[in-house]
Amino acid sequence: MTTVTDHVHDLGQSARDNEQEDAVPTDTLTIPDVVDYTAEIRGGALVAETLTITDNRTGKTYEVPIKEGTVRALDLRQIKIAEDDFGLMTYDPAFMNTASCRSSITYIDGDQGILEYRGYPIEQLAEKSTYLEVAYLLLNGELPTKSQLENWQYTITHHTILNENFKRLIDSFRYNAHPMGRLIATMAALGTIYPESKDIFDESVREKQIERIIAKVITIAAFNYRNTIGMPYSYPDNDLSYTGNFLNMMFKMTEVKYTPNPALERALDILFILHADHEQNCSTNAMRAVGSSHVDPYSAVAAAAAALYGPLHGGANEAVLHMLKEIGSVQNVPDFIKRVKSGEGTKLMGFGHRVYKNYDPRAKIIKKAAYDVFEVTGKNPLLDIALELERIALEDEYFVKRKLYPNVDFYSGLIYQAMRFPMEMFTVLFAIPRVSGWLSQWQEMLNDSDQKIARPRQIFTGSPRRDYVDIDKRD
Ligand code: ACO
Repeated sequence: MTTVTDHVHDLGQSARDNEQEDAVPTDTLTIPDVVDYTAEIRGGALVAETLTITDNRTGKTYEVPIKEGTVRALDLRQIKIAEDDFGLMTYDPAFMNTASCRSSITYIDGDQGILEYRGYPIEQLAEKSTYLEVAYLLLNGELPTKSQLENWQYTITHHTILNENFKRLIDSFRYNAHPMGRLIATMAALGTIYPESKDIFDESVREKQIERIIAKVITIAAFNYRNTIGMPYSYPDNDLSYTGNFLNMMFKMTEVKYTPNPALERALDILFILHADHEQNCSTNAMRAVGSSHVDPYSAVAAAAAALYGPLHGGANEAVLHMLKEIGSVQNVPDFIKRVKSGEGTKLMGFGHRVYKNYDPRAKIIKKAAYDVFEVTGKNPLLDIALELERIALEDEYFVKRKLYPNVDFYSGLIYQAMRFPMEMFTVLFAIPRVSGWLSQWQEMLNDSDQKIARPRQIFTGSPRRDYVDIDKRD
């Protein structure tokens, strides 16, 4: 074991000076040897990678290691006012400043507007890659070789069929059931067909479930849609690409073979690439938290999809379209902006992001893809309202001051609508590619020895212990 104080003395630098100036006794925090307690040369001086904390309640001073720009919350537990004190905790509702994991999958620099999957910039992937290749990259850490990609595409293509019994499950939903409710329920039910999926630490079993989920999520989405509109189910066609096949299952009519429009097929593929992962957002956090109980991946994906359903997350693309429709015309935009600024409960949907405080890089790519789609479908009449909203908001002090820029959802809905997807399906179109991100994060979590069942602490604010009052004695 190494003690921090010993180490600081060895370094003989400012941390020690601070320590010597303390009039009160200094406590030493014991750090296990496994902690990489490094010193760095900065401007020629040795600098300890530690944080010195003085607890003014007791006058004791502690030093905790800083590693990867982070202090470990558990290192604070030793800061106590008495032996039987639980120890200091951190309070961080909504995880505003807490890293819940170490991850090598997706990198975001919110200030610079940078998004990278496994180191590859999103702009390059959107231009040169395909969604299935990106899914492989997220799951495996490296781009596939030619033969690996062929095998992967073949495997996913050949797992798209749903067990026929599922048609009865899908038939049982009410005609107007929301597609996200249908997706969540169908995904959870899918796990019941594969009881071996509970064997999450068997790598080959895990791999098989990942392939099944990525392959079947398009069939689940499309079959539920066909059921809603009373159309016969359109079965997967193995000659088609992932997105081409999805369009086939969604929109095939009486033709013998469905041929997707290549521009629309590619635009959808780009949208799928952009939505594939986004590090520790609300739904990924749900995937990891639920997965940390070691439940099967179908249940965890259903939980993640439920988190995505909310209007502050994946539901925003649908909300944007409702908003644009409500605004109705370009002339009404200034009034709408006024209402948003007055805080009357209306937000500018598709604007703002917890992490991006600069333009969302995905929104830039989507805006361009929108024009490619409109070449084929004709312009979405709501586009002009969206452009005017963006123009005014980007100049307005309210939005500039708060660093509110269009996010991924601002333009994606316009594309989906032009492609004839009903509004209620927009969040499903987000969920389909995001399953590859969720599964990559889930896999990473299972292989991470730092992880345990997710279990936050609370600050209890309720009543102190009291005795039960019989009902006839209550006021
Ligand atoms: N319209 C108007 N004002 C906004 C908006 C918006 N879209 N977003 C944030 N603000 C304001 C807030 O009212 C707040 O103002 P205040 O400081 O005067 O109180 C300030 O900007 C900071 O906003 P927060 O809510 O604290 O930011 P947070 O990081 O918690 O929220 C969120 C991020 C949820 C995305 C938020 O910007 C929002 O609700 N946007 C609209 C919904 C949306 O588009 N969601 C999709 C996000 S992308 C995704 O999930 C794929």
